[in-house]
Amino acid sequence: MRNKIVEFRNVSFRYGEEQPWVLKNCSFEIYENEAIAIIGHNGSGKSTIAKLMNGLLFPQEGEIIINNRPVTQDSIWEIRKDVGMVFQNPDNQFVGTTVQDDVAFGMENRGIERDEMVRRINDTLSAVGMQEYRLTEPHKLSGGQKQRVAIASVLAIFPQVLILDEATAMLDPRGRTEIMKTVTNVQEKRNLSLITITHDLQEVVEAERVIVMNAGEVWDEAAPRDIFAKKAELRKIGLDIPFVAALSDELWKAGVPINNEALNHEELLEELWISHSIT
Ligand SMILES: Nc1ncnc2c1ncn2[C@@H]1O[C@H](COP(=O)(O)OP(=O)(O)OP(=O)(O)O)[C@@H](O)[C@H]1O
Ligand SMILES: [Mg+2]
Repeated sequence: MRNKIVEFRNVSFRYGEEQPWVLKNCSFEIYENEAIAIIGHNGSGKSTIAKLMNGLLFPQEGEIIINNRPVTQDSIWEIRKDVGMVFQNPDNQFVGTTVQDDVAFGMENRGIERDEMVRRINDTLSAVGMQEYRLTEPHKLSGGQKQRVAIASVLAIFPQVLILDEATAMLDPRGRTEIMKTVTNVQEKRNLSLITITHDLQEVVEAERVIVMNAGEVWDEAAPRDIFAKKAELRKIGLDIPFVAALSDELWKAGVPINNEALNHEELLEELWISHSIT
């Protein structure tokens, strides 16, 4: 049995007394070493969930527990050692004058010793392929490079949970794939729980489990294949389905004898191959 790392218990949240509830009675659990994707239409509450997980916000109702510790004003410094977060816009996340200063910053705040800091700077910058930019000023980096450094800074803290809130949104498809590969490698080495908040359907397909948000509520949580089987319902709540899933569905409707559950090119090819050999 895997350890439970994150638990939301009946969490409701609003940004002020006069404001509408943006999260309504949300409950879910996330385990050690799990890869989770959170999806949902714009404004469905995804970023709010991320901010509640490391105590940037606190719920009016319900409870959030990280690594057996309730998230409260008193626990946020401990919580933030466990939960690392990278947002979409890396420019707001830089504080150092060089890349290595920047990676060092989060560690200094957490009292990590100098030798250990140097080791972690080297390790995490090589993990994201930015070792040779150690002495570069962050503002001279491209968007994708900045995002790699932002991820290195968070990984250097050795969090148990890594949340990427549309952190790859500004990268081209190749940059996205590379970053996700890097992060997945680190995840496996360190038993990280990886939470990807994304509109990129390829990233969703690669998660073990998907949490679907709709208007502040948990609409469903299941494996990608089970989620994307609900094609019509997903479209109704403003969500798309992966291109290959849509294509195989169209082929199936047009009478091609395939199982319409393919989620990637290889699976669709396999289906077409089988249907070709039986007709
Ligand atoms: N600081 C804020 N003050 C007031 N309302 C806010 C604030 N931040 C977000 N909201 C509102 O809360 C709701 C949920 O926002 P949130 O950012 O969590 O959505 P999201 O699912 O991350 O959307 P997106 O896909 O666009 O990033 C939205 O209706 C939004 O307008
Ligand atoms: Mg958001």
